[in-house]
Amino acid sequence: MSENKTFMITTPIYYASGSLHIGHCYTTVAADAIARYKRQNGYDVYFLTGSDEHGQKVEREAAKLNKTPQAYVDEITDSFKHIWKLLNISYDGYVRTTDDYHKKTVQKIFKKLYDKGDIYKSEYEGHYCTPCESFWLERQLKNNCCPDCGRPTELVREESYFFKLSNYADRLIKHIKEHPEFIQPASRANEMLNNFLLPGLEDLCVSRTTFKWGVPVDFDSSHVVYVWLDALTNYISKLGYLSDDDSLFKKYWPASVQLVGKEIVRFHTIIWPIMLMALDIPLPKQVFGHGWLVLEGGKMSKSKGNVIDPIALINRYGRDAVRYFLLREVPFGSDGVFSNSALVNRINSDLANDLGNLLSRTVAMIEKYFGGKVPAYDLNSALGKELREYASALPKNVEANMNALKIPEALQSVWALIDKCNKFIDDTKPWVLAKGENTGDIETLGNVLYHLAECLRYVAVLTTPFLPDTAGKMFEQLGIGGELTTPDSLKAFGGLKEGTEVKKGEALFPRIDVQKELEELEKLFPSEPPAKEEEAKPEIKPEISYNDFAKLDLRLALVENCEEVKKSRSLLKLTLKVGDETRTVVSGIKSFYSPDELIGKTVVLVANLAPKKLCGIESHGMILCASNADDTKLSALTTMQPMEHGLKVR
Ligand code: MSP
Repeated sequence: MSENKTFMITTPIYYASGSLHIGHCYTTVAADAIARYKRQNGYDVYFLTGSDEHGQKVEREAAKLNKTPQAYVDEITDSFKHIWKLLNISYDGYVRTTDDYHKKTVQKIFKKLYDKGDIYKSEYEGHYCTPCESFWLERQLKNNCCPDCGRPTELVREESYFFKLSNYADRLIKHIKEHPEFIQPASRANEMLNNFLLPGLEDLCVSRTTFKWGVPVDFDSSHVVYVWLDALTNYISKLGYLSDDDSLFKKYWPASVQLVGKEIVRFHTIIWPIMLMALDIPLPKQVFGHGWLVLEGGKMSKSKGNVIDPIALINRYGRDAVRYFLLREVPFGSDGVFSNSALVNRINSDLANDLGNLLSRTVAMIEKYFGGKVPAYDLNSALGKELREYASALPKNVEANMNALKIPEALQSVWALIDKCNKFIDDTKPWVLAKGENTGDIETLGNVLYHLAECLRYVAVLTTPFLPDTAGKMFEQLGIGGELTTPDSLKAFGGLKEGTEVKKGEALFPRIDVQKELEELEKLFPSEPPAKEEEAKPEIKPEISYNDFAKLDLRLALVENCEEVKKSRSLLKLTLKVGDETRTVVSGIKSFYSPDELIGKTVVLVANLAPKKLCGIESHGMILCASNADDTKLSALTTMQPMEHGLKVR
């Protein structure tokens, strides 16, 4: 192996909050197949994955469960590693953002960028989406909600450190334009240029003071590093960047491919390369944004209650079937649809019928007609010429597809050989040849079976990175090991030796009664997700006396005027008529009402609340609204029939 034939591939690190669904497994299974393919072809591979364990969301989830954040992320990380083991994921490094070496590297990077003047301290006001851990500008919000997940954002204002992304924008634009392979598929590069880079980059907030669960800024302890700077560092912290031993970093960085889902391409092709530029580190050779595995009804998400549990699928069909489905069904780069029937039909037709059946028939016939020994053959015969030619060209075909990260196409090309073999059996009718009615029939039969067995060997070698267990079982049934299981042995058709003893084994994939299976699956994974559990009702507060209640002065008030508070994203300024009095009230309901909707309405005012300044405006009271727990629904209270303003509410 030559010294410089290294290949590094990464997946994103998964949020350590909740369990992984089958969509999450897609990135990692794809990365695993690529890593295995490269290893098989002589590369020294480093495959990195891990978990993203900091942030407000983790802190909140842990608190809800009455656990420390560390205990919570420890459990989640164990559950992730368990799934990766079940799926046969061959990662070389697993990084946890709570690991010491990682935290130290994040702190060093932060300091380095601060000393260089790329990070500076200021004040931040912006919209923060807690589930996505991302900040948004007003103009980026969609209907006042996070443009990625559609959930409401929180308006935050705090002292923060900022990273001057704008310092590096021109260099990044130039890099993207000069390296069309950097962001793939190309459509994603255009999206980044047109939507983010060309309109101008805002500096990025890289620290928070409102939560504690993060890497502390070591020279300013009230701040923790904002999660993306923390999370992205994983790709180099595990390699020992800025540590005493950076040999892995020297050996493997820059990464060859960084696989990410389409919704986080932005972070990986803007923030990440700019971080690297600021640190004077080479950029990854490629960031590949893949599509999602979606359900017929839309994206899988826990809040929709429609996630598919990978463990249930692995238990039912075996890990290679699940790997095959993911790799074959999702066109790399675009979305793929998961449905029970797509899954069952894929497994049944491609794996049980086409591949499994071909192997079992071939081995059974060699046993029956040739005592289990691979028969003599003729590689110059017209018979089987097409198979020989197709198989010989196949490794290059797979290689071209794998280099372009077209995994489904690579598998398709292997399955085309399987189809050709099945057709070859139909055409040559070995069971007729076996009767030996014509001279030479038995030699021809031997030649037919040899071609089939040798093609199956090609299939096994070439599917090893995708379906490692299955390939192993195929080698066993074909009676081969060692050199004959390597890509080198596919250089010339005919590697399989005459006389090799085959061994019939169990079916590679049990055949499925599709109709029955779909009925069973419908019970396990209903196409209509179960109705969402009712939202937890907020608990009633402890009892108070009537006297306490009577301290509140609630009044009807008429909204005479209403305007947006320009400096704020959430506040409206209302001018209320309350009997003879006119007063100003500031209310955080801008995302639910436009001023016009409120003018002329009668609302309920807490009239004797102590005044409070909000965004520089003194608010005299508060209007009452009903809302759900996460403030996604809100309604101002009014009366059932028109009533005069100033009246008491009791
Ligand atoms: N923690 C961040 C990544 C930080 S990397 C420095 C994160 N984590 S995640 O757990 O939400 O997502 C991890 C990966 O899973 C992402 O690439 C995401 O696109 C992918 N997927 C999540 N749901 C998916 C599907 N339904 N289908 C395909 N991939 C999906 O983002």
